[in-house]
Amino acid sequence: MNILVTGGAGFIGSNFVFYYLREHPEDQLTVLDALTYAGNLQTLQPVMEQENFHFVKGDVADRETVFALFEEKKFDIVVNFAAESHVDRSIEDPGVFLRTNILGTQVLMDAARAFGVSRFHQVGTDEVYGDLPLDRPDLFFTEDMPLTASSPYSASKASADLLAMAYHRTYGLPVSISRCSNNYGPYQFPEKLIPLMIANALADKPLPVYGTGENVRDWLYVEDHCRAIDLILRGDAVGRVYNIGGHNEKTNLDVVKTILKQLGKPESLITFVGDRKGHDLRYAIDPAKIHADLGWLPQTDFDTGIRQTIDWYLENKEWWETIISGEYQQYYEKMYGNR
Ligand code: NAD
Ligand code: TYD
Repeated sequence: MNILVTGGAGFIGSNFVFYYLREHPEDQLTVLDALTYAGNLQTLQPVMEQENFHFVKGDVADRETVFALFEEKKFDIVVNFAAESHVDRSIEDPGVFLRTNILGTQVLMDAARAFGVSRFHQVGTDEVYGDLPLDRPDLFFTEDMPLTASSPYSASKASADLLAMAYHRTYGLPVSISRCSNNYGPYQFPEKLIPLMIANALADKPLPVYGTGENVRDWLYVEDHCRAIDLILRGDAVGRVYNIGGHNEKTNLDVVKTILKQLGKPESLITFVGDRKGHDLRYAIDPAKIHADLGWLPQTDFDTGIRQTIDWYLENKEWWETIISGEYQQYYEKMYGNR
């Protein structure tokens, strides 16, 4: 098999690259990544010299680059992770989200049609279902729920999903879609909740919790996510949507307190700041379909996963300290300066 992984220098994409090369050493794997602020070539260093691994710097929305790459490599499978992924940034500047997340997906699917693939897998998010109320713990996201969106980010991801289903129906493109809950684990960019709180706690800086901290997310350890995508790629999943996640719901405040406890830092570092605009209340996945069809269930519970994640950030300080010492400082000042 010859597989294209877009966005492979980002958080989930890089974890997927490591997972895939370990599980399928006989396959050829190419990463296409524009190396935006969220992409880090350093992350891929361990596999860079492997002869079945290839890296191409390029923009998924750049038709010429994408078509030339497909023509050269004749991919069998495409897994599209490439995206602008941070809700807060989408609230500040939606344009780039629409370009990468919607038009980028269109260009990739056009190339997949033109050159033929056996599977185009679109990596989606549970945020396309909107949110669930906090006082109805009996409700979960299922694949047949209508799409709705609270942020420009989730609107762009919902658009990409709709476009992918349309390409399947209209052109017969062999598309599959997965919608996962919040991932955590190694190599996550420290603008997202968990790595940001770990980095701030280690520096004895305030931990900025939006609103009341009662919002709930359903945390998915990144390796569980990678295994689910691999199963979907190998299963009979064309034209199907699979939710990935489940059984790891936590309030943001609980997450932050767990991190502080493990690092031996005081809860007085918690600082409540102004709420995110349009802040989704609760995400919670019902994974019954992927369990029934493909036998997948998450293997890492939150207590184990968060311990592993904190250990990774402690052992790999250089990776994230380099990131937060640069341009990120300006971002942090802009986003949190007068919150
Ligand atoms: P990330 O921001 O860490 O990485 C995104 C990667 O895409 C980066 O390497 C970046 O350089 C690359 N990229 C951005 N624009 C590009 C472009 N125009 N052309 C080529 N490459 C480009 O994101 P992530 O957290 O790894 O998320 C990966 C995918 O999973 C995204 O599609 C995201 O919507 C989805 N997702 C993420 C989560 C999560 O919790 N992180 C949850 C649900 C869904
Ligand atoms: P985030 O990691 O941005 O993921 P998403 O918005 O896709 O769920 O945020 C996770 C939750 O944590 C979300 O409810 C917003 C909240 N949050 C904070 O309270 N403080 C922060 O500094 C950040 C980045 C997020």
